[in-house]
Amino acid sequence: MSTERIVTAETHTSDLPDSIGAPRPRRLDEFVGQTQLCERLGIALKAASGRSDPMEHLLLHGPPGLGKTTVAHIVAEEMNSHAYVTSGPALTKGADLVGTLTRMQPGDVLFIDEIHRLPAAVEEYIYPAMEDFKIDFTLDGGMHARVVTYQLKPFTLIGATTRAGLLTAALRSRFGIAHRLDFYSQDDLDTILERAATRMGIQLDSGEARSLIAARSRGTPRICLRLLRRVRDFAEVRGEGTITTELAGEALLLEGVDDGGLDPLDRSYMRVLAETYEGGPAGLEAIAATLGEDSGTLEDLVEPFLLQAGLLARTRQGRQLTASGRERAGCKPSSGPLFDH
Ligand SMILES: Nc1ncnc2c1ncn2[C@@H]1O[C@H](COP(=O)(O)OP(=O)(O)O)[C@@H](O)[C@H]1O
Ligand SMILES: [Mg+2]
Repeated sequence: MSTERIVTAETHTSDLPDSIGAPRPRRLDEFVGQTQLCERLGIALKAASGRSDPMEHLLLHGPPGLGKTTVAHIVAEEMNSHAYVTSGPALTKGADLVGTLTRMQPGDVLFIDEIHRLPAAVEEYIYPAMEDFKIDFTLDGGMHARVVTYQLKPFTLIGATTRAGLLTAALRSRFGIAHRLDFYSQDDLDTILERAATRMGIQLDSGEARSLIAARSRGTPRICLRLLRRVRDFAEVRGEGTITTELAGEALLLEGVDDGGLDPLDRSYMRVLAETYEGGPAGLEAIAATLGEDSGTLEDLVEPFLLQAGLLARTRQGRQLTASGRERAGCKPSSGPLFDH
């Protein structure tokens, strides 16, 4: 059946590609940071299981790599149920979901990643599924077409998106809980690294090497785990296997991340704003055009971190580098840009 390819049932959370080496946290108490989210989920889960109801539909938004998929699996695990995973672009028509929806047991989780890319037809199809746990089938065609309503078992829909702004108000309002994930603090990333290193059997000779990695991870668990693996490889090949502060520093240099954790796209964005627009204010569309990037990509992937790092400000006139952003970007062309080209 076609839905088999579109929707996969994930029972083993550790199978997911992101978790190569370091298994994803499986329970809520293993999930580091995001204290407000954990508290909200803890309450929702407890209340739901007390009433033997499924948990309310949950919408997670925020930049990639912060733990949206992980949370969806944690909810399923905490509910002792299965997570069925699909994504907005994989669903082209309502019927794609029929197989999964009718197979789901009470309390199961349907996880739709990139839910902002759900086609309008599918979106309308899932409204009654979300609200009343029912869907309409059309049997036969033409003159003899009949619509049959099918009652579903109560389930939890979890939607994840990097672009909450693109969701229709109608869809957004059908989620009982909506939460925005924040970038992680250095301490949280440090804890994530410490646990991952233990689970992966990686030796770090000091907390300093760990903080070095955490500081360059752009507040993002996925990046810190990736850097940990790169640093481990480097230490195995160039050193004795143990990650020393020195080896970590060299490995990170090779990876091209600067000490603020900015990646090449962040740096190009700041360079354009600094050099072409003299630090701003400049409109997002103008910056995007100069960079040859999609403005949505910049808004979702680049700006949130620069804003939170205090390098960028959004003013009514447009995007503007802050004092520290200017300093970082070497704003005046005469003083020479600090960025490598
Ligand atoms: N709070 C957290 N604690 C520990 N590991 C985390 C946490 N959040 C994310 N991770 C890890 O980071 C990686 C990316 O998380 P993921 O859930 O795939 O992010 P997203 O779906 O938001 O892009 C995964 O390997 C996951 O295990
Ligand atoms: Mg994800």
